[in-house]
Amino acid sequence: MDVVLFGPPGAGKGTQAKRLTSLLKVPQIATGDMMRTERGKGSELGKEFDRYMAQGLLVPDEPVLTLIEKKLAEPEAQAGAVFDGYPRTLAQANSLDALLAKSKRKIFKVLALEVPLEEMVIRATGRRTCDRCGHAYHMRYNPPPSSGTCSCGGKLTQRADDTEEVVRKRYQEYIDKTKPVLGFYKERGLVDTINGVGSVEEVEARLRTSLGV
Ligand code: AP5
Repeated sequence: MDVVLFGPPGAGKGTQAKRLTSLLKVPQIATGDMMRTERGKGSELGKEFDRYMAQGLLVPDEPVLTLIEKKLAEPEAQAGAVFDGYPRTLAQANSLDALLAKSKRKIFKVLALEVPLEEMVIRATGRRTCDRCGHAYHMRYNPPPSSGTCSCGGKLTQRADDTEEVVRKRYQEYIDKTKPVLGFYKERGLVDTINGVGSVEEVEARLRTSLGV
């Protein structure tokens, strides 16, 4: 099953994608995570990604399409995927259709998480991630242990693009370039709008109802 988790920054795509992947037994394909991995390697490509990410701008389509093409060719991605933060432009949506069609696959559903802007800002700016195990905390909603480190002992870091100024820029990019992609999927009746406000479990239950799992 191929599912797209759609929504603005901090809407809960990554949190819910992890839950859906263990339920559906398919991998999470998160372009933001893939770009951060590339950036962590210090490669030229990673440096190029960083130039856009640090400003809250979308990375140009071409390198994104290359990343996705490679990922979809991996053996673990042959039975479906949960796409998290991809596609974000009409060119990416068209390209994903074409790539999936090569293996006679198509998007089953687009789950569009809706969260008010001010809540998104709170969620993104409060996020802290463990640099050892990758566990995500939130300073208000899911605070880390009082030691200030992860329960595994790892150091907690804040994403450089999780400042209020950059989160608002990311949101504007979402409105200008990504939200129009919903129309592309709505024409085909693939979109379910999901209320993203509530506990992580409540939102997961809404997603599961939509998918019938
Ligand atoms: P990316 O990493 O994809 O960031 P994003 O889309 O802005 O989304 P986030 O990761 O910030 O939020 P999320 O919706 O996953 O929420 P999460 O579950 O983490 O992209 C970063 C950048 O990379 C982009 O700006 C762009 O430059 C580039 N990029 C990536 N993909 C691209 C593409 N396809 N094309 C071009 N450029 C691309 O939750 C956030 C916080 O809220 C967490 O702390 C979490 O614990 C908390 N939380 C989650 N759910 C709840 C809940 N129900 N209640 C309370 N707290 C909650």
